[in-house]
Amino acid sequence: MSPVIDNTAREHVHDLTSDTATIPTDEMFDIMKTATRGDDVFGADDDVNDLEVFMANMLGHEASLFCASGTQSNQIGLRTLLTQPPHSVLCDARAHIFVHECGGLSYHSQASVTPVIPKKGLYLTAEDVEANINKDTLTGAVTRVVALENTMNGTIMPFEEIKRIRAVCDKHGLYLHLDGARLWNASAATGVSMSEYGKLFDSISVCLSKGAGAPIGSIIASTKDRIRHARHLRKLMGGGWRQAGFLAKIARHCIETAVPTMPETHKLASRLATHLQSLGIRLALPCETNMLFLDFAPAGLTAEDFAVELRKKNIKITATSGSTISRVVLHYQVTAEVIEQFMDVATNIVKSHGKPVTTAMETDVKENGNTTNSSIESLGAAYPSGKN
Ligand SMILES: Cc1ncc(COP(=O)(O)O)c(C=O)c1O
Repeated sequence: MSPVIDNTAREHVHDLTSDTATIPTDEMFDIMKTATRGDDVFGADDDVNDLEVFMANMLGHEASLFCASGTQSNQIGLRTLLTQPPHSVLCDARAHIFVHECGGLSYHSQASVTPVIPKKGLYLTAEDVEANINKDTLTGAVTRVVALENTMNGTIMPFEEIKRIRAVCDKHGLYLHLDGARLWNASAATGVSMSEYGKLFDSISVCLSKGAGAPIGSIIASTKDRIRHARHLRKLMGGGWRQAGFLAKIARHCIETAVPTMPETHKLASRLATHLQSLGIRLALPCETNMLFLDFAPAGLTAEDFAVELRKKNIKITATSGSTISRVVLHYQVTAEVIEQFMDVATNIVKSHGKPVTTAMETDVKENGNTTNSSIESLGAAYPSGKN
C-alpha cells in the first residue's frame, strides 16, 4: 500500500531505508495551491525562477536550473563540462554518478570513467586524484573532469581535502563537479556554508528530494553560460517541464523548514549509533550525519533478524536475505520516539537472541583512522534493488 500521512493511523510505517522516503504533508499540498502556474520550458514560472536564483546564491554560483532528479542534474552538469570524446571523468569507485546512474556518463557524454578506490579508505585525496589523471593523448581517454560526492554514504569529505583537490584540478586544467545530493547534511554537520563548498566547484548538483524533504527535485548550479546550455540539455533529455511552480514552491518550503532540523536528525543518528555499538553492533562506517551502516555480525544476528522485529513496531529498515549489513537513514520525519523504539527493540533482540557483548565496539575507522577497502566493498548489501 502507498504511504499516507495520517497521524491517527496506527499503521503508519516509519521508513528508515532512505532519506528519499519522506512523505509529502498536507501542509505541502496546501502550499501547492498557492504556486504560480507559468510554463518553465520558457522560463516563465515565477516560483521556479525564484528557486533557481535562491539556490544559485546559496551555492555561490551565477545561475542554477531546477531538474527532476539528482541523476538528471548530475548528468546534465557533467555534460556541460565535457566537450567531445575521447575524454573521461575521474571519481571515487563508489560514486553515485558511476555506480547508480545507469551508465549515464557513457550514454549522455560518451565519457569513460576512471573509478578510484580511495587509498585512505573514506574519501579521495588530492594524491589519489593526481595519481589517476589520464594524460595519454595517444591511446587514453584524457581526464577532463574530477567528480566528488559529499556526503558519501553519510560520511563527510573534509573541506581542506576538497581545497587540495581543487588545486590539483587547477594545476592540470581540469573541471571539478560535485554530486552534493546531501551537501545539506555536510554543511549542517561542519558549519561550512553551502556557498563555501559551492565556490570550489565548476558545477554542483544538490538534491531537494533527500534530506531536504521535498517530494521531487534537484538543482544544478554553475555559470550563466553553462546553465543556459544545461537548460538546452534538460530539454534534450525530455526533462523540460511545464507548470512546475508547485514543485519549486514546496522545495523552497522544505529548504526553509526541514533543512534547519538537520542537526537534530544528526544527533538522533549519533544517539542510535552509540546505543547500537554498546550492544555490540558494529558501525561499518562512522556515523557522521544521518546514515548508519550497521554490521550485526558481532552481535550474532542478521539484518533480517533485526528488520523483522522492527517491523512489528512499524519501523522499516533495509535487509537483504542472509546479509548482516544494513543501512539505516534518518530524516526530518523520524522522531525521537521512533529512535527510542528502535533502541528498545535492539536491546531486546540482542538480549534474547544475540551474542552478548559487554563493551562498546568502536568502528575500524574510529580506531585506526582508516577503513579497509574490503569493508567498503561489503556494503553492497546495504543497497538492495538500487536504493540510494
Ligand atoms: C549521492 C547521490 N547522488 C545522486 C542521487 C540521484 O538522485 P535521484 O534519485 O533523484 O536521481 C542519489 C540518489 O539517492 C544519491 O544518493
